[in-house]
Amino acid sequence: MADIVYKEGVLTQEVFSALSASVGWPTTEPETAARAVCGTRYAVCAFDGENAVGMARMVGDGTWSWYIEHVVVLPEYQGRGIGTRLMEHVVAALNRSIPKGQGLSAALTSAPGKEGFYTKFGFSPIPSDHGTAMGVVLEDKENRRRE
Ligand SMILES: CC(C)(COP(=O)(O)OP(=O)(O)OC[C@H]1O[C@@H](n2cnc3c(N)ncnc32)[C@H](O)[C@@H]1OP(=O)(O)O)[C@@H](O)C(=O)NCCC(=O)NCCS
Repeated sequence: MADIVYKEGVLTQEVFSALSASVGWPTTEPETAARAVCGTRYAVCAFDGENAVGMARMVGDGTWSWYIEHVVVLPEYQGRGIGTRLMEHVVAALNRSIPKGQGLSAALTSAPGKEGFYTKFGFSPIPSDHGTAMGVVLEDKENRRRE
């Protein structure tokens, strides 16, 4: 296999939708996916030649507050360190964004069973002197897609 190349800022709706579908996530209307991609503050994609084989993205204010979303590697490329390299790019981008003399908070919601993947990068439920990281999942249960 040729070397995997990592590129920042090139995520498209087509790549977002194709990679999401490849890991069995519910399909999203292209307009919805395009809105998500448009609102992305940082994205990194992994390419094997012309083919996108992985992605990770973040939304946020560019300074103190970030949220990591859609960390995906094509199933046939998993287990080769690509997810790790994507997360290394994400963590490097976060480090570059730390306001001088201050800090930032980055959150994510791990898929069930994937927590161990993120623990390696320092993510854990953390109560701190500044409060406790918390999250909520809000769903449109009435119209939720059936698998
Ligand atoms: C999670 C995912 C991005 C990992 O990508 P990957 O390229 O397979 O990961 P890597 O090959 O870089 O593996 C990184 C390390 O994490 C470990 N790891 C991978 N998945 C793990 C899991 N679910 N739990 C614990 N450790 C895990 C690997 O064993 C490896 O450990 P090592 O460095 O000690 O060998 C990929 O499996 C994926 O796309 N899954 C489907 C989509 C998904 O669930 N994304 C996460 C949404 S929160």
